[in-house]
Amino acid sequence: MKTITQQPIGIFDSGIGGTSIWKEIHQLLPEENTIYLSDSKNAPYGQKSTQEIVDLSIKNTEFLINNGAKIIVVACNTATTNAIQYLRRNYNIPFIGIEPAIKPASLNTKTGTIGILATKGTLNSILFEETTSNLNEEINIIEQVGEGLVELIENGKIYSEEMTFLLKRYINPMLEQKCDYIVLGCTHYPYLLPQIQKITGDNVKIIDSGEAVAKQVKSILLQRDLLNNSSNKQTNNIFYINKDTSVLEAMLKDYKNSEISYLDF
Ligand code: DGL
Repeated sequence: MKTITQQPIGIFDSGIGGTSIWKEIHQLLPEENTIYLSDSKNAPYGQKSTQEIVDLSIKNTEFLINNGAKIIVVACNTATTNAIQYLRRNYNIPFIGIEPAIKPASLNTKTGTIGILATKGTLNSILFEETTSNLNEEINIIEQVGEGLVELIENGKIYSEEMTFLLKRYINPMLEQKCDYIVLGCTHYPYLLPQIQKITGDNVKIIDSGEAVAKQVKSILLQRDLLNNSSNKQTNNIFYINKDTSVLEAMLKDYKNSEISYLDF
């Protein structure tokens, strides 16, 4: 029988973008079993109402709990900023969320201007508003909705002309205002890093919260005595997706130990 520590880390996102977080977690905690749920059928969450995002997050959470998750990582800024408070109040399991890294950007900027690229759902959320209201008032924050980016990534069009067009449209105004930090506030966007860096050049730092989330997962597992201490080092990394599996397979092609299945969910 499996002990609680051998149970998987449950991770969900509106789609395949949260695999950027899974990769960070897997790198830091390779001995952990994981189960990832990609709700691609309902992506993007970013244009939905708070209630719809909460309802989908409940469904995803219950799926992961029913599949034995010992902790849940909400690998989606939109779901975290809109639903994590509800989830924490209603389920007796630790939740780790992800929020845009605007604090480190605001502490390190030299020009005093930072850009943030995120979904409408994240930028309009109360949690995001609370975080920004705690920052130094002198920092100029350029908020940009990355409309259309999640859809292109979900459809495997990361390196398309359409993507380049949209990215230039969103990033160039930030550069004109001399921003020196760009915060990626959506877990899909780290897959766009090389392209964004090409537009900005090397003088702009592009940051996301992936590594910080992985460290937080480790610290909570350690604190609660939930780190996998089994001598069996063969781990299972299971991915469920409710849409075509091909784009996800391409993203995970270097991870031979990952098992990807279509799920009617
Ligand atoms: N990966 C999700 C996030 O971090 C994408 C949101 C969406 O589906 O719009 O916000």
